[in-house]
Amino acid sequence: MNIRIFEHEEDLNVTGAGIITSLLQTKPRAVLGLATGSSPVGIYKQLIAMVQKDLVSFAQASSFNLDEYVGLPAEHSESYRSFMNEQLFHHIDIDLDKTYIPDGNAPDLTQECEAYEQRLEDRGPVDLQILGIGHNGHIGFNEPGTELTGRTHVVALKEETRKANARFFDSIDQVPTQAITMGVGTILKAKQILLIARGEEKAEIIRQAFMGPITTECPASLLQCHPNVVVLLDRAAGRWVK
Ligand code: F6R
Repeated sequence: MNIRIFEHEEDLNVTGAGIITSLLQTKPRAVLGLATGSSPVGIYKQLIAMVQKDLVSFAQASSFNLDEYVGLPAEHSESYRSFMNEQLFHHIDIDLDKTYIPDGNAPDLTQECEAYEQRLEDRGPVDLQILGIGHNGHIGFNEPGTELTGRTHVVALKEETRKANARFFDSIDQVPTQAITMGVGTILKAKQILLIARGEEKAEIIRQAFMGPITTECPASLLQCHPNVVVLLDRAAGRWVK
């Protein structure tokens, strides 16, 4: 586990983007695993700037997102498809047909999960998976509990997760109650994992995830079993890291 702490946001973003662009330079057809949420946005901005300066190209790459809300049409302003289009895809040269996000509006969600997992098996493995971390230690939408699911599946969102995400909706009632998420097994199949966390509010969960025991009660702690994880933290989120 390679944990790096940055004094300046800009340095964190440049380092994160550098890991992604180095991969694309050596492997233009790389399969990227992408996340939504606020943690990767600065890195996505940096990537956009690099594409605009012709320093990197996503033209041959493909991507798989971690998760999507159930019940929101793709065009909904808060769907993860809209988020990715606005924060990254529409500003880089990636082929939109090769950007995969689970369809949370599919008529048969179980079948959608199976199809997503199968597509990952056919086109993967993911070369580099980007992750944020929830305040409760979730990765993707794999919420803490006594059991975790390995494969892509439908999950009921914890109240704390819905509250954390309510900031993007008019009210908490509008936050979906379910999501489709890659499973922990799906995530751990990635060749390399890049986890990003920022801010004091993530300090305690970072301590639990990377300095505490491996437990399903903190899904991110399972990353300790992966051989190639890079964690990028700002000083506040890395407060308890020795
Ligand atoms: C997003 C995702 C979530 C977020 C996590 C942190 O696709 O799967 O696990 O990474 O909730 O969210 P932020 O970055 O907004 O703190």
